[in-house]
Amino acid sequence: MDKRMVDGLNEQFREELASGYIYLGIAADMQARNWSGVANWFAKQAHEEAGHAMKFYHYLFQRNERAVLSTIEAPRKSYERILDAFEAALEHEKYISSKIHELVRLARELGDLPTENFLQWFVTEQVEEEAVPNSIVERLKLVGDSPHILFMLDSELAGRQ
Ligand code: FEO
Repeated sequence: MDKRMVDGLNEQFREELASGYIYLGIAADMQARNWSGVANWFAKQAHEEAGHAMKFYHYLFQRNERAVLSTIEAPRKSYERILDAFEAALEHEKYISSKIHELVRLARELGDLPTENFLQWFVTEQVEEEAVPNSIVERLKLVGDSPHILFMLDSELAGRQ
């Protein structure tokens, strides 16, 4: 594989691990505030991100390259409101989508059809990765900080498997 593609895939491997770290950080903050349903949602999201990272890990080895582990920064420690946490998640997912799209453009430029095909799963996944936090952000903006509604949302998010 072209070195630029290998480096790009490894960078995305790191980004997916970092996403999990960010979401686990939000989960811990929400758990500490007793929003255990919100914490559950973000912990499940962190788990999902580890799965995304492993797709890059396996793909690199399938192509006779290697996955490289690099430094991941400590994520933000606290979020004032539940809305802030979901807004941060939405912004982060938009950033991740832009990184995936850059990789697709690079694979096209290099004529690396297997990698372009591999990345299509992420292109589709990112639509949902943005849509879900976006819908929660929109709902939270509508209801404001009403404790009653926040408790209902917390119960709903506790159900995420
Ligand atoms: Fe793996 Fe949420 O993007």
